[in-house]
Amino acid sequence: MDTLDPIFKPQSIAVVGASRRAGSIGREVLHNLIEYNFHGKVFPVNPKADFIHSIKAFPTVSSIPDPVDVAVIVVPREDVLAVVDDCAGKGVKGLVVITSGFSETGEEGRRFEKQLLERVNQYDMRMIGPNCMGVINADPEIRMDATFAPALPLEGRIGFMSQSGALGVVILNMARELDIGFSYFVSMGNKANTSGNDLLLYWEDDPLTDLILMYLESIGNPRRFMQIARRITKRKPIVLVKAGRTGAGARAASSHTGALVARQGLDVATDALLDQCGVIRVNTVKELFDLALAFSKNPIPRGNRLGILTNAGGPAIMATDAAINQGLEVGKLSERAAAELRKLLPPEAAVSNPVDMTPKASPRTFAACARLLLEEDGLDSLLVIFVPPMMASPTDVVAGIDGLRKEFTKPILGVIMATEDAFDELNEKQPGHLAIYHFPEPAVQALATMERHRHWRERPVGEVREFPAEREAARELLEAARARGEVHLSAPDAFRLLECYGIPVVRSAVAATIEELEAQAKQVRFPVVLKAIAPGLVHKTEAGGVAVDIRTLEELIAAARRMSEAIGGDAATGSAATGAATTSERGSGFGFAEEDGEPGATFRESRTPNPEPRRARSPASSTPLSFLMQEYVRGGREVIVGMTQDPNFGPLVMFGLGGIYVETVKDVIFRVPPLTDVDAREMIRQIRGYRLLEGVRGEPPIDFEALAVILERFSQMVEDLPQMAEVEINPLMVFPECRDFCAVDARVRMTDRPSAISDQLSAKQPDAFLLKAES
Ligand code: COA
Repeated sequence: MDTLDPIFKPQSIAVVGASRRAGSIGREVLHNLIEYNFHGKVFPVNPKADFIHSIKAFPTVSSIPDPVDVAVIVVPREDVLAVVDDCAGKGVKGLVVITSGFSETGEEGRRFEKQLLERVNQYDMRMIGPNCMGVINADPEIRMDATFAPALPLEGRIGFMSQSGALGVVILNMARELDIGFSYFVSMGNKANTSGNDLLLYWEDDPLTDLILMYLESIGNPRRFMQIARRITKRKPIVLVKAGRTGAGARAASSHTGALVARQGLDVATDALLDQCGVIRVNTVKELFDLALAFSKNPIPRGNRLGILTNAGGPAIMATDAAINQGLEVGKLSERAAAELRKLLPPEAAVSNPVDMTPKASPRTFAACARLLLEEDGLDSLLVIFVPPMMASPTDVVAGIDGLRKEFTKPILGVIMATEDAFDELNEKQPGHLAIYHFPEPAVQALATMERHRHWRERPVGEVREFPAEREAARELLEAARARGEVHLSAPDAFRLLECYGIPVVRSAVAATIEELEAQAKQVRFPVVLKAIAPGLVHKTEAGGVAVDIRTLEELIAAARRMSEAIGGDAATGSAATGAATTSERGSGFGFAEEDGEPGATFRESRTPNPEPRRARSPASSTPLSFLMQEYVRGGREVIVGMTQDPNFGPLVMFGLGGIYVETVKDVIFRVPPLTDVDAREMIRQIRGYRLLEGVRGEPPIDFEALAVILERFSQMVEDLPQMAEVEINPLMVFPECRDFCAVDARVRMTDRPSAISDQLSAKQPDAFLLKAES
């Protein structure tokens, strides 16, 4: 037995605060329970009344002679705790707390909610709410409507959870009009004890629920949501309206990755998460219904080839355009079908797909032609468009098509471009009819979404692979940097960190003086790039601090001298005053992509021979300057791999076109780590610039497999090292041969919130999720 069963499958219900007052919530709840024919016993509880609604009332829950499974609480907030104690005395295991005035109202309410939750936990109860509209279980064996919603729901196979009670009422009303039925409806209220994740788990194996709809304002435990939803969506579609798309924009960010998250302001974290777990996100309640109709009344299509049957040309053209835009194919009819259609239709009819029967088509013709199209092996779904002429009623047309639904396992969607009366009549005379839309586009969109869902179901789950890594070395490196008070890792450290996870980096060297530079130059292959490093030096190119394509030692020395003069350091003198650089010096100025701005430079892997150079120190006025020398390699394509921390979701991994493309076309995609092998490959395929990586005008494609492995390794690094707030490799140079791959610039910023580290680590333990009340 599930701990939520007393709430959803009770045999007896107490309505505490059941009222005689017409229009009061306490009265409406009791009324709905009776009106919906609850199969068990109902006990009104009210100290001031002997009978309510002609039913014997009790002054307290404990005075009820029979066992009570669930108490629906509708008393003023101040009385709720005493009622919960009373329920505990009676052995009640489930509560639905409709009363508001808790955490949604401020500090005082939060205190009340804390006390309420403590009692619920102490008594080993489960609770929906507080501040909710109630729950419905439409199972014919239960028939429980414990809400105060005015409309009783139709019975169906949809589990619906709503974080907004008011919206829940609207949805119940509209669903009735659209002939959509529910198995469960749950208004979650403040989600104090029972979360969206708990309900998902409850419905995962529920035999009466085939489709899950959610209206959410927050996802309290996104990683757990991802684990659960990923599994469920393989069997049952989940459609979610998540409000609050625009809230993420205000975050400060110091990398492209962070800035892109903030700038897009489109709740990219939620989008990434939902994409990864196959949850279908919609923006409006209207879209939610469009999909609810299609999914709840149809099987998932087996392919993307659509047949269109119409009695008017215009709407069929609209449907065709929409289908093509949405990636569906308007399938070709067989000669046999065309010949059969020809026999059924007048000469002016069109017997290719879309099949235009002309306005003369009777309900019988609709049904006969629909049958022919459904029999076609080359079609996977059917859209029937009906623009009412004088002689046929929509109800008759729909009745004819409905007759075919049992025979064929293909989705059939209808479009009726008629007035509301036609729909009222249809609902009344043909309950449980096929999914009907007012216009072709939403119907086609719904079919296209179903088709995408099929892809998701068929897509392999993938696995999170573990690669050999120098984990301890990486941790020590970060800890040492933190101990030195650094916020950003130095360039050599950042490169070293990547190497710990097998991510290839450019061969580079740092020199504090020109003499040192000369010595180091023997270890790298020309041509090279030289970059000036100095505290506070941000725009190196503009300051004359970058020289590319240096081919000889002489050119290198000359470039270094020019830089010293331009930037005003004293390294050129060679008078290397000894001593380690200060913390602030070390923590700034190393060459990151957006600071350097020389997109053409490309390099090869290897270690930095001298990661902590001495710096030339000068009298107070001059700049301590050192040099970063890197091998210069051309011909690769530039991509970006990044990570930023989202306040709610934790780390997000980004991939896209790098270098100048990051700032211009912003062609990037986000995912929540850990990435599976399938996730990594999808990320690469899903950017718009994928074609550029495949190679244009005879260019060979890059090594996609090697790139995907780098993304997986990067994800592993991000998961292992929660000390990092942002990481960015930009550009990562990618080539047709994996041996040429190398990170040219890397930026690593450490988190200033050590608690984030333990949060993230504990979030990896599955049990840790269960301990959290909210999800
Ligand atoms: N045990 C049993 N019954 C009790 C009780 C107790 N400890 N304390 C009060 N009652 C009875 C009252 O006598 C009254 O019955 P009566 O009308 O027959 O006299 C009934 O419970 C309701 O109490 P009342 O004081 O009239 O409160 P109310 O109806 O004005 O408000 C709530 C109660 C719960 C509806 C109100 O506090 C509230 O929270 N409203 C908002 C609900 C909401 O919007 N929820 C979120 C939806 S999304």
